[in-house]
Amino acid sequence: MEQEKVIVIDFGGQYNQLVARRVRECNVYCEIYSYRTDIEQIKGMNPRGIILTGGPNSCYEADSPTYTKELFELGIPVLGLCYGAQLMMHVLGGKVEKAPVREYGKTEVYVDSRSELFASVGNKTDRTAGVTCEDHKTDDHATICWMSHTDYISKPAPGFEIIAHTADCPVASVQNTERNLYAIQFHPEVLHTQEGTRMLYNFVRKICGCAGTWRMDSFVENSIREIRQKVGDGKVLCALSGGVDSSVAAVMLAKAIGNQLTCVFVDHGLLRKNEGDEVAEVFGPNGPYDLNFVRVNAQERYYSKLAGVTDPEKKRKIIGEEFIRVFEEEAKKIGAVDFLVQGTIYPDVVESGLGGESAVIKSHHNVGGLPDCVDFKEIIEPLRNLFKDEVRKAGLEMGLPEKLVFRQPFPGPGLGIRIIGEVTPEKVRIVQDADAIYREEIANAGLDKGIGQYFAALTNMRSVGVMGDERTYDYAVALRAVNTIDFMTAESAEIPWDVLQKVMSRIINEVRGVNRVFYDLTSKPPGTIEFE
Ligand code: XMP
Repeated sequence: MEQEKVIVIDFGGQYNQLVARRVRECNVYCEIYSYRTDIEQIKGMNPRGIILTGGPNSCYEADSPTYTKELFELGIPVLGLCYGAQLMMHVLGGKVEKAPVREYGKTEVYVDSRSELFASVGNKTDRTAGVTCEDHKTDDHATICWMSHTDYISKPAPGFEIIAHTADCPVASVQNTERNLYAIQFHPEVLHTQEGTRMLYNFVRKICGCAGTWRMDSFVENSIREIRQKVGDGKVLCALSGGVDSSVAAVMLAKAIGNQLTCVFVDHGLLRKNEGDEVAEVFGPNGPYDLNFVRVNAQERYYSKLAGVTDPEKKRKIIGEEFIRVFEEEAKKIGAVDFLVQGTIYPDVVESGLGGESAVIKSHHNVGGLPDCVDFKEIIEPLRNLFKDEVRKAGLEMGLPEKLVFRQPFPGPGLGIRIIGEVTPEKVRIVQDADAIYREEIANAGLDKGIGQYFAALTNMRSVGVMGDERTYDYAVALRAVNTIDFMTAESAEIPWDVLQKVMSRIINEVRGVNRVFYDLTSKPPGTIEFE
């Protein structure tokens, strides 16, 4: 049976992946395509609905992204969001202009609860108390939405009726139920729009009529079956980093083809405390899976290559190249394989420019060159269509331990880029121990799921301190914790003072070689999340 699907057409806005995620939360499979995608291709995918995203342009300017009018004539329900809403009006004969008041942030919106798009949305208002709008007489329910726009729809296209407004925005939503076209000026996909998911649910499940059959258990089951068919009795190689993506991919392969799979795990000595052993526990011979697990203990190799190197880019390069070399040696021992597994996930696909409109931002973060050093026929990417939280769900579904599934993002070059200056085994020990304490205390305080990314790093600064009766001359540890939506920008997280105090005192008491602890308040930009 064909998987029912909704297509998101991306006009370059910042929340576009969120739209797709929210749709999937309604158990409807969803993919993102650039506005440059040909209409024939869109038609060929047989979507049950189409959503047009926001974007930074003004739709009335000549070179702004647009889409052929034919899209609105296919009989497929279309929902325009923000720029997408304006574009729909513009293309169909309405009017979009620069707004007299730029609206940004949380805003009360009055919606027409009789519209299917707003079914069960908002609380009934006393109309005399609400903000009234001349053209919109049925604004009987109020809810909070997230507005972010400088243009506004000053006149809906012919055949459309207004179904929502705010104090400053006379046309916050319109519909043409005969043609199944809907437009919303605000952003239902962000959590600040309190009932946004309900609105998207109403669109995909009620208006588009999707049955909602996209479930993680069926995804896992189908993928395992497909992998089995594809691989036959072939040999498969997987580079396992111990991170969430490669671990979930490896388990899926292990379940599908057992010991036709070989996983190579390179321990470069720059992992977090005990991490190498934890990976070996899950994937090694004493773990639950029947696969070939090769742990390469390459610590000494890495430390000697890194000796005396202080430049951060050089360190990254050495770590990356050494990884390829170690992996190549192992791959040679294994010999030719039929397939190489990669833990690519959907944001990687979108961000590398294949899906939506977002710029190529990740490429420098990934270890390139791996495919070149292995003799293989084809790449398998079992998680290619999943968002991170879905990868986690798939991991849990297959029985991976929570500790592994909810692991924080950890850079490929590991602690090598959390130690300023030269990397030495002594410094690695310090940062591993300090980081383990920090993570433990954050978890004890119940903050671990609420912070985007947090870790300890080692400054290259030594200073004088006093411990007991002794003068010390030791390192300063930096604690970092940030909140972020997309890892492109970030703000330092507010951690309660008593938690920081406890971490500081434990690090100084328990980690030899440290006599000061700093908390890094820098946001990104101007800083980066990592500390290198
Ligand atoms: P920055 O430091 O650039 O980090 O603000 C943004 C996010 O990317 C992660 N990061 C990496 N991930 N290989 C990776 O796999 C890398 O070389 C790398 N460098 C940074 C970082 O942990 C953060 O989540």
